[in-house]
Amino acid sequence: MSSRIQLERVGQTFWVRGDDDKRLREFVALEGVDLDIRAGEFVTLVGPSGCGKSTVLDLIAGLAEPSAGTLAVDGTPITGPGLDRSVVFQQYTLLPWRTARANVELALEAKGGLTRRERAERAGAYLDLVGLTEFANRYPHELSGGMKQRVAIARSLSYEPEVLLMDEPFGALDAQTRERLQEELLAIWRRLGTTVVFITHDIDEAVFLGQRVAVMSARPGRIREIIRVDLDREAAGETDLRASRQFADYRHQVWSLLREQHARPTLTEVAREVHRVA
Ligand SMILES: Nc1ncnc2c1ncn2[C@@H]1O[C@H](COP(=O)(O)OP(=O)(O)OP(=O)(O)O)[C@@H](O)[C@H]1O
Ligand SMILES: [Mg+2]
Repeated sequence: MSSRIQLERVGQTFWVRGDDDKRLREFVALEGVDLDIRAGEFVTLVGPSGCGKSTVLDLIAGLAEPSAGTLAVDGTPITGPGLDRSVVFQQYTLLPWRTARANVELALEAKGGLTRRERAERAGAYLDLVGLTEFANRYPHELSGGMKQRVAIARSLSYEPEVLLMDEPFGALDAQTRERLQEELLAIWRRLGTTVVFITHDIDEAVFLGQRVAVMSARPGRIREIIRVDLDREAAGETDLRASRQFADYRHQVWSLLREQHARPTLTEVAREVHRVA
């Protein structure tokens, strides 16, 4: 099961205090955001810090109401959070009084339809997937930041929702764990056909995971361009894919769009990119 997500002319305005006179003024965080994500599609969202990526995700999750425009899941307007949509937040959100396993089981309890034993098995399987079998009985304060994030990921996946909304879920992880989880996420997505919206700062991650990469621009936040990623995954094999020429081309395309938004890139950024493309 999966769902289509449609955003039409979505705007979000916040009231913020000015830095000079401290008077409240309008701050346009998003303006005219159009995005049509088909059922079962994997879309990644990139853009400079503060451009409104998390705001877009909050709106799809139903955690906030837009100031303008409409959002719908399978044609039904989004009016609040729903069990069809699951979120992995930018900051990990675990219940401190529950163990890792019990935090994962929480989502399964909410979903219903599983016996206690099935819940325990499913929670165990997903904790195993994120490499936390040995830590299942620990409490959040006994886990590292990256481990807590992995529990939150296991919780969202275990629940097998129709829509998975992920806000930089792999940001705090080491490179090896990150790559392994990217591959696992793709495998799970292929198996379940879930619609995924995935925010990242990492261009490689955006290209590797997304069937389309939506590049946002800042002030006000808009979708600058959407790049369809058509990688020949079979030919390259997933491990070598990142080293392929076609991958480098997509990476450069996204990089160029992001680069236009920072008036002056640093010398290191330029050197790194020149090195990558060469
Ligand atoms: N509740 C709020 N009240 C006022 N301003 C807000 C609120 N939430 C977000 N903003 C502002 O809206 C803009 C977009 O914020 P958002 O968190 O969506 O950015 P982001 O793209 O996710 O950034 P990052 O990559 O750093 O996570 C920022 O300028 C932020 O300060
Ligand atoms: Mg954010």
